[in-house]
Amino acid sequence: MSNAGKILLICDNKSSSSHLKEQLLGWGNYTVIEESSGQAGMVSLSRCICDLVIINCTLPETDTVLLLRELKNTDPDCVAVVLLETSQTDKAVELAESGVFETVSREAGAEKLRFIVDSGIKLHGLLSASRRLNLGLVENNLALEKQNTLLAGRIEDATTNLSRLYEDLRSTYMRTIKVLAQTIDARDHYTHSHSENVVHYAVAIAKEMKLPARDIELIRQACELHDLGKIGIGDSILLKTSSLTPLEWEQIRKHPVIGAQILEPLTFLNAVVGLVRQHHEHYDGSGYPEGRKGDDILLGARIIHVADAYEAMRSARSYRKIPLMKDAAVLEVKRNSGTQFDPRIVDFFLRVVDNL
Ligand SMILES: [Fe+2]
Ligand SMILES: [Fe+2]
Repeated sequence: MSNAGKILLICDNKSSSSHLKEQLLGWGNYTVIEESSGQAGMVSLSRCICDLVIINCTLPETDTVLLLRELKNTDPDCVAVVLLETSQTDKAVELAESGVFETVSREAGAEKLRFIVDSGIKLHGLLSASRRLNLGLVENNLALEKQNTLLAGRIEDATTNLSRLYEDLRSTYMRTIKVLAQTIDARDHYTHSHSENVVHYAVAIAKEMKLPARDIELIRQACELHDLGKIGIGDSILLKTSSLTPLEWEQIRKHPVIGAQILEPLTFLNAVVGLVRQHHEHYDGSGYPEGRKGDDILLGARIIHVADAYEAMRSARSYRKIPLMKDAAVLEVKRNSGTQFDPRIVDFFLRVVDNL
């Protein structure tokens, strides 16, 4: 007697109920709960879930279809077997549509009923296990969703922190490099504000040209750093008061490339590197380091070149103690328009120079 399970037997005929109970107990280690009406059966099922419900369809004042529906409401996995009189064969179809597991004629042999009881109990076990599994899956999904939301929040926080750290690092780098560039200017008391003045002139030209704010910002950064490469040139050349020898000129002409090489590893300054490298290129191709010509020179570098040259003319230098007067410097810029300088940039320069 390895079979086990709880069976609810709803039968209004006392002797039939007892006979059936006796049969069931003989087939397996079942617990049989006997009820004599549909109402009492409902109450029993609501108190404890049964593995199988057997209903005698001749129950007085009971609509079996309705009873089956209510049993399903109480236990969605309810497996019900209905016992029918021979005369009730048409009822079998109606009950089948109402979700009954099996209908069995009272005249059916004991073996058939035993098989149906056994199968019904197994089916209930499977349905219950499947429901528990589904519930578990739903709970797991909810837990995972909660965890996902939590993780998404943490990732967002981490990304914000990372962006902040990157921005801090970026501004620390910028400050360090700017200090470095200012140190270069400070080596020569004649050029101590050179980069600062170049920023002022170049930004004024770029604004007059109505360049986008991002391009103006890049030009501003490039101006601050444009002579950074002079770090690699000795004071004996940089501060020399007499004319430079060809060899010394060669050293001076290396500073745009040295500056670009110092900045190249800093990826956030990618767009600035080219401007630093090209700030001594001439519009007619006679400049250095690459001898680039016309539009082959970056627009920002052409602007910086005009601002840089004008600033140099307007400042005292170790080799020229008296700076050029404003008119003379402007005339010099005009004179070199189309050769050293981009004529278009010179036009914009002339529109702003009075306010510089
Ligand atoms: Fe320079
Ligand atoms: Fe310069």
